[in-house]
Amino acid sequence: MVRTVYVNGEFISEGDAAISIFDRGFLFADSVYEVIAVLGGKLVDWNGHIARLKRSLHYLNIEFPFDEKTLVKLHRHIVKLNDLVDGLIYMQVSRGTAERDFLIQENLKVSLVMFSQELNLLDSDRLNRCLRVITVPEARWRHRDIKTTQLLAASLAKTEAVKKGFDDAWFVENGMVTEGTSSNAFIIIENKKVVTRKVGKEILPGITRLSILKNAKLLGLEVEERSFSVDEAQLATEAFITSATNFIASVAEINGKLIGSGKAGRVTEALRKQYISDIKQTSI
Ligand code: PDD
Repeated sequence: MVRTVYVNGEFISEGDAAISIFDRGFLFADSVYEVIAVLGGKLVDWNGHIARLKRSLHYLNIEFPFDEKTLVKLHRHIVKLNDLVDGLIYMQVSRGTAERDFLIQENLKVSLVMFSQELNLLDSDRLNRCLRVITVPEARWRHRDIKTTQLLAASLAKTEAVKKGFDDAWFVENGMVTEGTSSNAFIIIENKKVVTRKVGKEILPGITRLSILKNAKLLGLEVEERSFSVDEAQLATEAFITSATNFIASVAEINGKLIGSGKAGRVTEALRKQYISDIKQTSI
């Protein structure tokens, strides 16, 4: 199906969509984005994603003329125009178009682009998939908490992992896991403690991460927000990643070492069930 996408005020067929070659998002990755899951035609974790978008824009000092109400409307319209049931909406805000110059000009007109992708988020094969990850040295810039489109290091790392026969990579800095190439990394220790890195400049403050931590507490699990090493992860009873497009995916192997039984663990399964039931009620 040919998608209808949104580009700067217009809903148009994907083949007709175009932005300027002088767009600073294209030339300097001077743009931020969000990926919002759509489940049963509804937007998942909307408030979190919009709060993070505002935060990213604020950090980069990008003036954004759209209010939240307009953004909800645009998202819902994309869902409707594309008959989207399960999948995602990608939204990118770029600082705007200007003659190529490292010096950022003031008062540029931002560009806003949105498109949908279909994805069977609740497909059982997808949910039961257990990932084999490798660790690689952290190679990204020092403001990973801002969701910019500067994604080359992560894209190269994932591609390298897949070329080697694995599913993904986790970045490691000073011996400690930061996060996955496009996900937050978690371990479960002693079958009951959920451990994930504290938010800070080193990782993206994942919206799914936040929801999972909330749901972990609802399930009576202990939560520890702290760094963990690769060695500790390899000794964990379970491991998983979270993201808007994966929800929770089990990690069965880290650098060739099986985690727990090498299958999706009991706590991860319980968390996934709880999370999915939560978002079915809270999505808008
Ligand atoms: N990426 N960390 C990184 C580096 C990410 O790129 C992502 C998400 C996450 C998880 O964040 P959230 O739970 O808010 O999706 C963590 C999206 C899905 C992407 O770039 O496609």
